[in-house]
Amino acid sequence: MCGITGYIGERDAYPIVINGLKRLEYRGYDSAGIMMYDGEKMNLSKTKGKVSDLELITTNNEKKRIGKIGIGHTRWATHGVPNDSNSHPHFSQSGDLVIVHNGIIENYDTIKKELISRGYKFQSDTDTEVLVNLIEEVKKNEGCKLGKAVQLALTNVIGAYAIAVFDKTKPNELVVARLGSPIAIGVGKNNEEFFIASDASPFIEYTKDALYLEDGELAIIKKGRGIKVRQIDNDKPIDPKIQELKLSLDQIEKGGYDHFMLKEIYEQPKAITDTYRGRMLADQGIIRMAGVDDNISKFLNADRIIIIACGTSWHAGLVGEYLLEDMARIPVEVEYASEFRYRNPIITPKDVVIAISQSGETADTLAAIKLAKSKGAFVFGVCNVVGSSIARETHAGAYTHAGPEIGVASTKAFTTQITLLTLISLKLAQEKGTLSKTAVNTYLQTMQQIPNQVEKLLKIDPLVQEIASVYKDATNCLYLGRGFNFPVALEGALKLKEISYIHAEGYPAAEMKHGPIALIDENMPVFVIATRKGHYEKVVSNIQEIKSRSGKIIAIVTEGDETVKEIADHVIEIPETEEALTPLLTTIPFQLLSYHIAVMLNKNVDQPRNLAKSVTVE
Ligand code: F6R
Repeated sequence: MCGITGYIGERDAYPIVINGLKRLEYRGYDSAGIMMYDGEKMNLSKTKGKVSDLELITTNNEKKRIGKIGIGHTRWATHGVPNDSNSHPHFSQSGDLVIVHNGIIENYDTIKKELISRGYKFQSDTDTEVLVNLIEEVKKNEGCKLGKAVQLALTNVIGAYAIAVFDKTKPNELVVARLGSPIAIGVGKNNEEFFIASDASPFIEYTKDALYLEDGELAIIKKGRGIKVRQIDNDKPIDPKIQELKLSLDQIEKGGYDHFMLKEIYEQPKAITDTYRGRMLADQGIIRMAGVDDNISKFLNADRIIIIACGTSWHAGLVGEYLLEDMARIPVEVEYASEFRYRNPIITPKDVVIAISQSGETADTLAAIKLAKSKGAFVFGVCNVVGSSIARETHAGAYTHAGPEIGVASTKAFTTQITLLTLISLKLAQEKGTLSKTAVNTYLQTMQQIPNQVEKLLKIDPLVQEIASVYKDATNCLYLGRGFNFPVALEGALKLKEISYIHAEGYPAAEMKHGPIALIDENMPVFVIATRKGHYEKVVSNIQEIKSRSGKIIAIVTEGDETVKEIADHVIEIPETEEALTPLLTTIPFQLLSYHIAVMLNKNVDQPRNLAKSVTVE
């Protein structure tokens, strides 16, 4: 996820673009850049770091701020580490075209090789520079205008994008297009000026008239003349539907959601897809991840895998243990990074360590990685933030590509970490032959249904709100699960604790009888995961035990379950899937439940007390 903004009109573009970038910084903040067209030349400023770092460059150089046309970008790295040259905007080889891009071009490598064979040279490692040169090549070969060249180039592209392109030889227009990433166009009076942005926040004070492009649409924006929209794949003209914005600035940045946490919960279908996109070719039974493929012998010859992480990432690691042992039959240990680093653990060069971290900056995880490396272990990172300290410190790794997570309580980071761990487990199972070809293929096909199933599951929100209103005043809660869903119980309890400040504990359901059952009375809500394939009968017995002690049961069951419905006080149904994949679904109601309880209790959902998004201290 990146932020794009731009302006074409009669005002000075610089303050509009730079302030727009500040508002879009929630979308990514590892580097920033701006191109200003002064009527003759395109002046480029870009840097690793935040928009404030970009401002340091432009503030002292007036030339870089002149012009009535400008485009800017704040980056969330996907291809290529965050550095100055990978920052956007990117010029084409001739220097005539310039582009900003939000998204991922999956087949960029093939296109890049073709362009190199035609004499193109690249200044960055990005997929975006490949795209702008492809547009230039098409424009040259077809002798067409920019709009047509962008359209033709995009028909050769696989992936997701929102782009804005400017051609200095036709300086009265901007071309924008989208597929899978948002773009809005603000329309000034009499078509005298236009604003473009990933959301409407950069232009809300200039105009309330906005056009949101739909997937597969391209717009040619001409100063003083208007906007022409067409479909990319069939050239069909579309009537631009300009709407009046009614949202406030704050609502726009949160995509219309009240909190970043809710937005991020709802982003999970896309985030999960982005995690497996290009890595899993379900129809062909192929799983490919460079970090694993290049080091496959390390994984296959490992005596054991040690997973290190903290908090929610540690819970994802626990799911990873169940997945890796079940599918790939490799012994796994899961450790709190903070304990591991200080307890003089036995580590050998035959160990593979998987470090999991959303931020990639957690001090304890970083220290544990350094310790493991010093003992000769191979360390593989599973991070979300590209170019983060953990991503750089590990020998190899794979990014989750969940996009920025702003809410302090981790949501989409958890489900995308599990998605990635599932892919790694299946890949190793495939290599080792511990799962049959058919079994792997079934998992891959089933995996592909998960984003739609999450989408469907999110529609239960009103039911979860109802349940939240019943239990919001509880002072203690229990969360129970077994097998793959035991870590989800832990995660459910953590979510409730951290944003609503209600005491909650997660347990393996069968552990109840070894102590926690003493807590059960009519005031104790117990959230139980009782999906059909996961030790179902045993969990049903646990539910009976709680019920007979007057505990309140809120059960997560598989669609169509009748047995638990009869015993439980409330049931939430999740779609049917493979047992190993259920954590990707069962976790969603718990996220929503904590969210709604915290909102009802008037807590600061996105910034709970005493917590930080990145724990860079011991
Ligand atoms: C909980 C939460 C924390 C983090 C933990 C590790 O919602 O966000 O428990 O999971 O601080 O952070 P990362 O994954 O950035 O290493």
